[in-house]
Amino acid sequence: MYIKGKAPFKIKVVEPIKWNTRAKREQIIRDAHYCFAYVPAEEIPINLLTDSGTSAMSQEQWAGMMRGDESYYGARNWYNFEKAVQDYTGFKYVLPAHQGRAAEHVVCRALIKKPGGTAYANAHFGTTEAHVRLLGANPVNLPVPEALDPEVPADFKGNINLEAFKKAIKEKGEDNIPFLNMVLVNNFTAGQPVSMANLKEASKLARENGIKVVVDAARVPENAFFIKEREAGYGNKSIREICNEIFSYADVMHMSAKKSALVNIGGFVATDDESLYEEMGQWLIMFDGFITYGGLSGRDLEAVAIGLSEGLDYDYLAHRVGQVEYLGNLLRERGVPIYEPTGGHGVYVNGEKVYPHIPKEEFAAHALSVETFIESGVYAAENPSSLGWSRTDPETGKYTPPPFELLRFAIPRRVYTDSQLEYTADGVKAAMDKGKQVKGFRFIWKPDNEFLRIFYYKLERL
Ligand code: F0G
Repeated sequence: MYIKGKAPFKIKVVEPIKWNTRAKREQIIRDAHYCFAYVPAEEIPINLLTDSGTSAMSQEQWAGMMRGDESYYGARNWYNFEKAVQDYTGFKYVLPAHQGRAAEHVVCRALIKKPGGTAYANAHFGTTEAHVRLLGANPVNLPVPEALDPEVPADFKGNINLEAFKKAIKEKGEDNIPFLNMVLVNNFTAGQPVSMANLKEASKLARENGIKVVVDAARVPENAFFIKEREAGYGNKSIREICNEIFSYADVMHMSAKKSALVNIGGFVATDDESLYEEMGQWLIMFDGFITYGGLSGRDLEAVAIGLSEGLDYDYLAHRVGQVEYLGNLLRERGVPIYEPTGGHGVYVNGEKVYPHIPKEEFAAHALSVETFIESGVYAAENPSSLGWSRTDPETGKYTPPPFELLRFAIPRRVYTDSQLEYTADGVKAAMDKGKQVKGFRFIWKPDNEFLRIFYYKLERL
């Protein structure tokens, strides 16, 4: 149970934030064509766009940055980084990367050897989807049925549908499945965790059929925290032990360190497979950097090495996951419909329920994002919703919206106070209370690549 105010840190350095008037905010978002990518971040006092790269670093991390060794080869920080990742994952071979998608890139390059295959996942993150497509394969999500119902509470709605995966192996044949990707926690289904039992079984099925298992570990400590709290047999294990077991079911893992490693930039790949490591290393040198820095400076490597361990601390995680639950409770108390239960990194509000008069094609979740900003200066981004996640199926050519219109209030780590979350909940309530006077949107410009619609577009109000 979250105890309000019981944070395992205190604030040493502050970053001022600016508050505009409501009229100014209305003008700012109108001038940006209702796309927050065009709004200067200084105009957004409470920014819940993402928990990626937005963490507050600790005094140990800042001190570590002063020990940065910027030698090209063999910087001392690389050895600290390598050891930290080995301890974290249990894997022998480590490759640094400048962020998660650069890590995914080398994994996808090494595993997708021919076009035409299908890469399955509990739900791929957008950049993984894009990499798989770029290499001529088809990314397919197999969430469990309960994950598609925002109102059903269950412990592990991030799980993969094992029956569907079994059927897919039979239908496609293992030679046409370059890998299974397990994302922990599952960003697409509201930050819900995957159970150890589900991961273990999915991994067994894949390995029995010669299919490589990838773990996308962007938020693996939060997932391990839920396993410890909810799954029988894990209550007495440490978060590090649980993470080690998770990685034992993977052939290769990658991580955007910008999330649960509490840094502003960084990522990595790890495996025990020597030939895979060698191949990925060669791709890394071409696209990101040498195999001992991967696009990072020595000081960044050090911050990751320290942040990885801090991210496994139980008290920190209880506060981190607790803050998400706390914001969820504040919204529930105000009658705001949220995806149940709250997950590991943010609260996802059900835009379709807040504004039932706005059809999918007119972007209800985005309308709630815009109204919340106008009312309060709080910014949250739709994720997933039809604005950025509608996709053309390469096999059928069918244009399909995602199952939800959700607005994600992602909580940066160690950044906002509980009272700022209370202010946030009031802002959402004020936006919801505007009801039917709120209108939807239509595109006036969008990027040709449909995956990039997650990031930018131009809209007008209907
Ligand atoms: N995997 C997952 C599950 C992610 O959520 C992200 C990024 C990545 C990989 C890619 O990592 O940004 O370091 O290149 N998610 C961010 C978000 C952008 O806001 O959810 P990256």
